[in-house]
Amino acid sequence: MAKSTTPATAVDAPPVRAEDFEVAARAILPKAIYDYFAGGAEDEAAIAGNRAAFARWRFRYRVLTGASEPDLGLELFGRRLAMPVQLAAAATQKMAHPQGELGAATAAAAAGVVYCLSTLSTTSLEDVATAQGVPWFQLYVFKDRGITTELVDRAEAAGYQAIVLTVDTPILGRRERDFRNAFGMPAGFLYENLVGPLSRTGPVDVGQSALAEYFSFQLDHALTLKDLEWLAGHTRLPVLVKGVVRPDDARRSLSAGARGVIVSNHGGRQLDYSIATLDALPAVVDEVGGELPVLLDGGVRRGTDVLKALALGARSVMIGRPYLASAVFSSSYATRSSCR
Ligand code: FNR
Ligand code: LAC
Repeated sequence: MAKSTTPATAVDAPPVRAEDFEVAARAILPKAIYDYFAGGAEDEAAIAGNRAAFARWRFRYRVLTGASEPDLGLELFGRRLAMPVQLAAAATQKMAHPQGELGAATAAAAAGVVYCLSTLSTTSLEDVATAQGVPWFQLYVFKDRGITTELVDRAEAAGYQAIVLTVDTPILGRRERDFRNAFGMPAGFLYENLVGPLSRTGPVDVGQSALAEYFSFQLDHALTLKDLEWLAGHTRLPVLVKGVVRPDDARRSLSAGARGVIVSNHGGRQLDYSIATLDALPAVVDEVGGELPVLLDGGVRRGTDVLKALALGARSVMIGRPYLASAVFSSSYATRSSCR
């Protein structure tokens, strides 16, 4: 009998699962950039916890229901989406692929799913809107409220269809890989939605993170429900609150004008030892799921993960690292295949 072999996950093996792209990205990217994408806060226990929570569930499935072709589509805020997997906000995507955020938004548009653009993107929000898909804008609130207001107004004018207010980042999580690498944006990249000192991270010594310093100097550390009320009153777009893991916070967000919540621990990049998002989901759904859509991100890596989140009440999931890694893979794919 032939001995079974473990499938290869090297750069040159065809990727068959999301993690294969992450293995390829690790081989391709400079270490500091890979560590920024893949890493999380402190012990990275929240990253592992997100995956472990998915692994604990099993399906007790129905049979003889006459199901044939499944319809994966759904409607969110009046838009038909092809499947319950949307692309989460991720900063600085030109570090993954030369086409950066516009490339990812174009792929999302072709797939019929949402592309959520980060405030800290390396392509301007107006340029990303040319992808003509379903763009959402993720908002970080600057200490300078004029800048924040202008970002929201620009997103509205450019055709964005929702604002995603991230609330789990009062300061940046302590990402020790980034401290070791003195991580900051490499030369040649800018935060294209912003100008002047806001468009780049400053220099730091090894043992510090330039991104952490940026958050500490520029962003508001003390958001409250009043800020959410202000935002929901200021924009005509639906506001989703991202980073909720408790039913009481979901209820308070709803009362302050949120039209959706995203159960998220920022992919384990913020408070380490945060509850796994799949574990946090059912109580949030019980509290507010009848009144607004509840989405989830963190550790979603395959279709059965999506099914588990949906079975526990999520309207849709979002993914982060898998699409960054696949962008890295595709950026080098043409070169590698022509070398064979
Ligand atoms: C993020 N995430 C994020 N979230 C956000 O609100 N604004 C941002 O700018 C970023 N930037 C960012 C960069 C990178 C490199 C990663 C990996 C993640 C968090 C993101 O939206 C999402 O919550 C997680 O990525 C979901 O977890 P998975 O799918 O990466 O496990
Ligand atoms: C991150 C920030 C930018 O997770 O949200 O790196």
